[in-house]
Amino acid sequence: MDKKINTVSDGGYAPTSFDDKLKFYIDHFNSELEKACRDFSSREGNGVLSEAMSYSLKAGGKRIRPVLAFEFCRMCKGNIEDALPAALAIEMIHTFSLIHDDLPCMDDDDFRRGRPSCHKAFGEAVGLLAGDALAFEACRAAADMIPDGSKAKAVISQLCSCSLGMIKGQVIDIKGVTPKQLTDMYALKTSMLIKAACVCGCILAGADENVCKAAEEYGYELGLAFQITDDILDVTGDESQLGKPVGSDERSEKLTYVSLYGLDAAARSAREHTDKALAALKKFDDREFTEILTDKLLGRNK
Ligand code: IPE
Ligand code: IPE
Ligand code: MG
Ligand code: MG
Ligand code: MG
Repeated sequence: MDKKINTVSDGGYAPTSFDDKLKFYIDHFNSELEKACRDFSSREGNGVLSEAMSYSLKAGGKRIRPVLAFEFCRMCKGNIEDALPAALAIEMIHTFSLIHDDLPCMDDDDFRRGRPSCHKAFGEAVGLLAGDALAFEACRAAADMIPDGSKAKAVISQLCSCSLGMIKGQVIDIKGVTPKQLTDMYALKTSMLIKAACVCGCILAGADENVCKAAEEYGYELGLAFQITDDILDVTGDESQLGKPVGSDERSEKLTYVSLYGLDAAARSAREHTDKALAALKKFDDREFTEILTDKLLGRNK
């Protein structure tokens, strides 16, 4: 990367505004992702599998999880470059979860990230396999790109256990969740990957267990707020802003915070979980960027 954003080293690039820093993280991530896509495409011999993987990865998305991986690493006084393997891996796993989530056997949604869903563009079988491939490519990236063996092991273990948690949450979602299970299901299907991003950032900075625990708590609460907000946007959002269909939950008769408690109570609950996430952040010095991000995610329209 040409500009260092590392509060540890003197002369590091230190953007002053929240927007500049967010843009810096996202631009840096996207250019590294571009390289990763070229790399697996050349390994595959430019076949349809890598085309489908790149199609969904490069369609955009808010890149919240990579940003969190970078920022937790930086808050723990690491260099954000060290968090890159985790940032790439998490976004690949997240993208795999979205491709599978849209399949006809799951939520059956035709649009994602502002373009036809992967299975609409490439067919169901290739969509399914592109999701599978992204999960393994994520683990390969973490294994090959993290130079310290014990950190690589800890990150891969975190990625795999959180991915399994996400999948368990998706199973509960698809089987039909009971009101009692709702929060636990959100904690699995959504908080798990957000938590993994935060914790991996800490691990790669060499943070201790207590710090990783605080990151875990933050990710858990942010994930709940994030999913409740997603449910609200499924009702109140604008399809062209969201880049995915609205009304998907109602069409599939999903039980959500909104269908169960109504829009106002859902919004209050999202605020409460955001406040709990902000409280967990207090363990981190230099947390201003993450605090602003946490609040902005609550008021997002996409
Ligand atoms: C969508 O996640 C799925 C949920 C967990 C609600 P994002 O809202 O982060 O999706 P992208 O990455 O921006 O497309
Ligand atoms: C989150 O739930 C799904 C994942 C874990 C991938 P949703 O099914 O509500 O996500 P969207 O609304 O399709 O993005
Ligand atoms: Mg779903
Ligand atoms: Mg869905
Ligand atoms: Mg949704």
